[in-house]
Amino acid sequence: MEKQKLTYQDLIEGNRDWVKTELGKDSEYFTKLAQGQSPDVFWIGCSDSRVSADKVVGANPGEIFVHRNIANVCVHTDMNMLSVLDYAVNVLKVKHVIVSGHYGCGGVTAAMSNNQFGIIDNWLRHIKDVYRLHSTELDGIANEAKRLDRLIELNVIEQVYNLCKTTIVQNAWRERTDLEIHGWVIDLKTGLVKDMGVTTNNSGNIGKIFALDETVK
Ligand code: CO
Repeated sequence: MEKQKLTYQDLIEGNRDWVKTELGKDSEYFTKLAQGQSPDVFWIGCSDSRVSADKVVGANPGEIFVHRNIANVCVHTDMNMLSVLDYAVNVLKVKHVIVSGHYGCGGVTAAMSNNQFGIIDNWLRHIKDVYRLHSTELDGIANEAKRLDRLIELNVIEQVYNLCKTTIVQNAWRERTDLEIHGWVIDLKTGLVKDMGVTTNNSGNIGKIFALDETVK
């Protein structure tokens, strides 16, 4: 069944309907929302239109701070990601950072192929690097769909490690113990998330070369 395409007018009407619905439940809803945000969760997800942070976990506006890019990659020279991470960790003082990948990810699928797609190939290089790190395991999976699923999982795990290696997260862990970094994969066929079991709340497990001294020399 083909889905009806949203028109621009649909968006305007959708907005009016949403406002009406929320005000119907709570006449002060927007007055309260406008007062400020104090989310406990920072979500780093894929730009894919099917993996909306709020929807997936049944949260409301104000509860999840969000950064999204193609294939939920955390690159340590990406000023966009670093700025959002810094604000989330040091200003909002979030308790949970979640790298949220999803099966059927077009970005990871493209990275696993040898096709050239244009400028995005340079972004997808980061995922090819994940493949290279885990090539023994991945090359051992004969079924291509299963190999893709595993690369999607490994990509999430590597991005969790990438976050742990940032100065932002390492310094935050010196100051507080209530910051956890998690990685999970959303299964679009069931809607359920699979926790990858890499939750980290200290610098203990990052490789020695990535561990940074407390002060800047
Ligand atoms: Co994706």
